[in-house]
Amino acid sequence: MALLGVNIDHVATLRQARGGAEPDPVWAAVEAQLGGADLITVHLREDRRHINDDDVRRLRPVVQVPLNLEMAALMDIRKLALRIVPQMVTLVPEKRTEITTEGGLDVAGQIQTLRTFIAPLKKAGIILSAFIDADVKQVRAAAKAGFDVCELHTGPYANAAAAQRSGSLETLRAASEAVVNCGMRLNAGHGLNYENVGAIAALPHMAELHIGHAIISRSVFIGLRQAVALMKAAAHG
Ligand code: PXP
Repeated sequence: MALLGVNIDHVATLRQARGGAEPDPVWAAVEAQLGGADLITVHLREDRRHINDDDVRRLRPVVQVPLNLEMAALMDIRKLALRIVPQMVTLVPEKRTEITTEGGLDVAGQIQTLRTFIAPLKKAGIILSAFIDADVKQVRAAAKAGFDVCELHTGPYANAAAAQRSGSLETLRAASEAVVNCGMRLNAGHGLNYENVGAIAALPHMAELHIGHAIISRSVFIGLRQAVALMKAAAHG
């Protein structure tokens, strides 16, 4: 059964809307864990638009499940990662103008650069995940670069019109097989919600689902603990 990683960035987004201390993402991490989160994810962006360095430092001792730090390949954030030592780092591409991560990381175009960038993180015992499009070429490149995990971008599937959905699922299935055949762990995320998560959770060898927006949105009405528990039920219905 796939594990559930809960991305709590949007709790910090809400905090930043007024510039105070509430709501605190550390409290969110506690509530998410009480709801059954198997991992906690935060994305420390270059512009620190939601999660900041202090959040990551405060989260580290409070998060009792594996902490997954999402980051772009930036030196100052790598420095922080090496101080904090989360269990997993997920490398993502980042654009200042995007609202959320748009496409997957182009690993194929920068295999050697990424291999060099992730080497100290791997040496520190951190599991390295590449957030990539469901593209076999990118999967093979991720294996060559030394990643342990591929998180396949499920946005195109989540956003597809009904007629295109099965095609998107087949693309994900082919990429999933390539991930497993290359000896890496298979994760998936982006755009998943209570309605569409089941088909992705059911893909063979799916290890982790990484979900943020849908869970945080639902939590506004029913609380985070219950929103997390409900997502686990929706995934494995
Ligand atoms: N995985 C990655 C790599 C992401 O960047 C995000 C968005 O922060 C997610 C998963 C979660 O996406 P969503 O908020 O759409 O569930």
